[in-house]
Amino acid sequence: MAYTENREPKSFSVFLCFSIFYATLLLNCNHVYGQTSTVFACDVAKNSSLAGYGFCDKSLSVKERVLDLVKRLTLKEKIGNLGNSAVEVSRLGIPKYEWWSEALHGISNIGPGTHFSTLVPGATSFPMPILTAASFNTSLFQAIGSVVSTEARAMYNVGLAGLTYWSPNINIFRDPRWGRGQETPGEDPLLSSKYASGYVKGLQQTDDGDSNKLKVAACCKHYTAYDLDNWKGVQRYTFNAVVTQQDLDDTFQPPFKSCVIDGNVASVMCSYNQVNGIPTCADPDLLKGVIRGKWKLNGYIVSDCDSVEVLFKNQHYTKTPEEAAAKTILSGLDLDCGNYLGQYTEGAVNQGLVDESSIDNAISNNFATLMRLGFFDGDPSKQPYGNLGPKDVCTSDNQELAREAARQGIVLLKNSPGSLPLNPKSIKSLAVIGPNANATRVMIGNYEGIPCKYTSPLQGLTALVPTSYAPGCPDVQCANAEIDDAAKIAASADATIIVVGANLAIEAESLDRVNILLPGQQQQLVSEIANVSKGPVILVIMSGGGMDVSFAKTNEKITSILWVGYPGEAGGAAIADVIFGFYNPIKCR
Ligand SMILES: *[C@@H]1O[C@H](CO)[C@@H](O)[C@H](O)[C@H]1NC(C)=O
Ligand SMILES: *[C@@H]1O[C@H](CO)[C@@H](O)[C@H](O)[C@H]1NC(C)=O
Ligand SMILES: *[C@@H]1O[C@H](CO)[C@@H](O)[C@H](O)[C@H]1NC(C)=O
Ligand SMILES: *[C@@H]1O[C@H](CO)[C@@H](O)[C@H](O)[C@H]1NC(C)=O
Repeated sequence: MAYTENREPKSFSVFLCFSIFYATLLLNCNHVYGQTSTVFACDVAKNSSLAGYGFCDKSLSVKERVLDLVKRLTLKEKIGNLGNSAVEVSRLGIPKYEWWSEALHGISNIGPGTHFSTLVPGATSFPMPILTAASFNTSLFQAIGSVVSTEARAMYNVGLAGLTYWSPNINIFRDPRWGRGQETPGEDPLLSSKYASGYVKGLQQTDDGDSNKLKVAACCKHYTAYDLDNWKGVQRYTFNAVVTQQDLDDTFQPPFKSCVIDGNVASVMCSYNQVNGIPTCADPDLLKGVIRGKWKLNGYIVSDCDSVEVLFKNQHYTKTPEEAAAKTILSGLDLDCGNYLGQYTEGAVNQGLVDESSIDNAISNNFATLMRLGFFDGDPSKQPYGNLGPKDVCTSDNQELAREAARQGIVLLKNSPGSLPLNPKSIKSLAVIGPNANATRVMIGNYEGIPCKYTSPLQGLTALVPTSYAPGCPDVQCANAEIDDAAKIAASADATIIVVGANLAIEAESLDRVNILLPGQQQQLVSEIANVSKGPVILVIMSGGGMDVSFAKTNEKITSILWVGYPGEAGGAAIADVIFGFYNPIKCR
């Protein structure tokens, strides 16, 4: 991968498996990296003696079934169900299950539970949430979640995906330099709350509307007060967020509260950081007290990947790994992303640090979630959603919703009288310039999958009018702008579109920005092109974090400015729709 990272490779070797930066190494690190055929328990058709088990009996309540299951398990089997790669219990007809799948803005293959194959080569890739949220359209949030959920079920049915998704990320994007702000619905607690509950409802709700059943299980993360990754050497793994109760209540907690109470989410993930000196995954007040006690979570609490290890090894919050295992379980943690609880919980029991009933409690929350998903109901092809398959992924309707979401999210920051929309009939030549002008991969941000297809801005615009193209910078970092070719085409074109901004080399997980200016010489490129262009200049900013473009606001040659976030697979088509007036970005609501 092109990105560098400052963590010490030795002490963090385990992170290599989980860090998003090292996603490509996943295959090397995870021995069990996904399901190859549909996984489910209680395959009564194959083994009729399983029908005698209460946990396989659909006529019983989830609670009764879980009780029946847990009492049959040995301590080892129980502990094997405390980690994301849950062990099989073959004597009871229960296969191994991989809990970790991701669906931030479409089905992603970042988590080990999900894969693409020749059967399903890609899935619909929606805009990054920071753009979708800018639509302020709660029914859109839910509509996207529902499409993603259908594609998830379709992929599950052919053994390519799990049923439990660790999405959405609803942390408040308070500091614009945060590298992961692109994953979030932004800085506003109310909008983030609406996004959380809307997207979660879309993912989870079943067709029959039974709130105790789940189409797929969502997860609101990362609880809480997390908006720093790696800033001038300050790392999320050891960062202590000092937050007043008022700021927690007014700012950081509302999206989580709404996610649990209004969205009825099946899971919450605790974060790496500490809040007021206590690691969130080991804070009984934040977990047992608030999430389960006050908000009454119906589901499981999961750790961020390796955060139980982090609170011992990096934060030195406990004296031993066993104490870390005990403390987190006793605080209300049910599932560990990682294998730390798998490794150290037995020792914790032997040392008398945690009792077996607390472990029963944790795995009961995990199993109850799987029961609500139908995992213990036998052959999924005979269950609701059993008819979904590859034909239901990347449908034209789904891809049209990705384009519509980008259109609705795009923000018009400046529009001088007579500038946008351009008339496709009167533009005989359009200069398309900038390091993101022909962006493809950049448009799908992080926690991405493989999209159905891409429409880059250049492709979207070229579909409407004759274009000429010059990148203007060798890459987004733009250490040395290449102005000559770009200036030449701008000087003769009827109008000029400049697409600048960022990508994952500028802002990402484990990479915060140190300023909010356009990278490298991008600003110089824009100013010089504006200076020589014959027609109006439309500046398009493709980024997750906000950019200071005051220089462009006051430049009269730059007649319009659009912010397009990371607009997903159909981003270029949506940008063209807005620029040429097929969609009006002015919201009169
Ligand atoms: C069928 O299930 C029973 C009960 O769990 C188990 O003991 C037996 O080994 C299973 N048979 C096969 C062929 O898997
Ligand atoms: C919200 O999005 C939905 C789905 O695309 C759309 O039908 C609806 O018109 C949008 N609402 C507004 C107010 O734009
Ligand atoms: C634009 O990007 C696409 C996809 O990467 C590529 O095939 C095409 O050649 C690029 N166009 C130009 C003019 O560079
Ligand atoms: C704009 O062009 C004029 C001359 O054509 C030049 O003096 C000026 O420095 C240019 N400004 C920028 C920002 O390139």
